[in-house]
Amino acid sequence: MKKQVITIAGAGSGYTPGILLTMLNHEHFEVKEIRLYDDDSQKNSDMEIIIDYLLEKGNYDVSLIRTENPKEAFTGADFVFSQIRVGKIDMREKDEKIPLKYGVVGQETCGLGGFSYGMRSMKGFLELVDSIQQYAPEAWILNYTNPETIIAEAVRRKYPEAKIINACDMTIIIEEVVSDSFGYNRENWIPVYYGLNHFGWYDSIYDDDLGRDVMPEVIERFRNEGLNVEGQETSWAQTYQNMRLIVQNFPTHLPNNYLEYYLYPNLAVEQADKEYTRANMIMDGRLKKIKETVKNIQNQENLDQINYESSEHGQYIVDIAVSILHNKNDRFMLIVPNKGSIPNLREDAVVEVPCYVNANGVEPISLRFDIPDFHKGLMEAQVASEKLLVDGFYENSYQKVLEAFTLNQSVPNADVAKKILDEFIEVNGDHWVELN
Ligand code: G6P
Ligand code: MN
Repeated sequence: MKKQVITIAGAGSGYTPGILLTMLNHEHFEVKEIRLYDDDSQKNSDMEIIIDYLLEKGNYDVSLIRTENPKEAFTGADFVFSQIRVGKIDMREKDEKIPLKYGVVGQETCGLGGFSYGMRSMKGFLELVDSIQQYAPEAWILNYTNPETIIAEAVRRKYPEAKIINACDMTIIIEEVVSDSFGYNRENWIPVYYGLNHFGWYDSIYDDDLGRDVMPEVIERFRNEGLNVEGQETSWAQTYQNMRLIVQNFPTHLPNNYLEYYLYPNLAVEQADKEYTRANMIMDGRLKKIKETVKNIQNQENLDQINYESSEHGQYIVDIAVSILHNKNDRFMLIVPNKGSIPNLREDAVVEVPCYVNANGVEPISLRFDIPDFHKGLMEAQVASEKLLVDGFYENSYQKVLEAFTLNQSVPNADVAKKILDEFIEVNGDHWVELN
């Protein structure tokens, strides 16, 4: 098998070491060259120092390139892993804090924070895809960039044939936490799941070893005992606590945890600290860690404390690449155009469903049942609001974006929608397209 040339777009991210180590340690993935690409040269150089150190320490025979030039980054690349965050953490902080001021959910991918990020992300991500189409149209783009349904919708309108796979690790993380909590082995699970990204439900979880659908018993234990959140960060522990509330009130399906923002926006607002949101935790956690690690490497001190390793986050996306390269037909939850996968949902929605991945790319499954009205209704409103946002982006339409904001289910009324929109236009500046 040919050795691969890999480009990480948004290389300055704290997830980069985990993704690269997962790749380098994967027995079925051979890397010839790693290219770190980021438009922030400071963050990119910091990451170069870390990756260079890790490559040397692990004795990996791989060349490393750091570049802020798209031509150099993409020409000849086999895979581009994108995790760009347009506007970086400072804008994430605004996405979270501005809606909270008005008593509305402030979250990076859900609600109006997600829409603010979506407007930035569409602009930055489409520029990235433009470059990749120009310099490496044959490369596979494996995308983690959020908010994923909005990105996927925007990209397919401009590049319906682009070789892009949109993946989110949330379902894997849910399955991991749930199976660990109740003593199952996730490797034996064949889950049937449907939804939009960060907005979906499990219909069944067949356990191949036990020979039965374990979802009903999992839900029963989840309702009664809750999940085991030992070792989880406080904010994630809170998330799983809120997820339990969903399961207690709506016990027919296992939900995606992100539904808390649409079903219990009141709770999400109540639990939030308006002065110190998730963005601040990341600044004080992942981002500080990068700076400290760089300093330690430069000073050759505390090197034993450098603990970057293969990660779950990396595992998922690397497994997708391996399934393409080795034509494995492994099954993943991916974000794809509906086209009948969910039979009773509009064809032109972008949905998250189980898919098989092989040398041809992605082959989504088709559910053989209609989804319940409760889920369908919630999803239809969400699809419509996200589509309006993408319309607004392409048409430079203030009106469409206001409609998107108003329709979002985390928003109580059009008045608040408009106030938050106007404030977002102000703070986002050139990160957004102009709206007329
Ligand atoms: C999960 C989601 C991602 C999201 C991340 C947030 O992995 O699938 O889409 O970005 O959580 O994590 P953070 O630690 O940045 O709050
Ligand atoms: Mn995600």
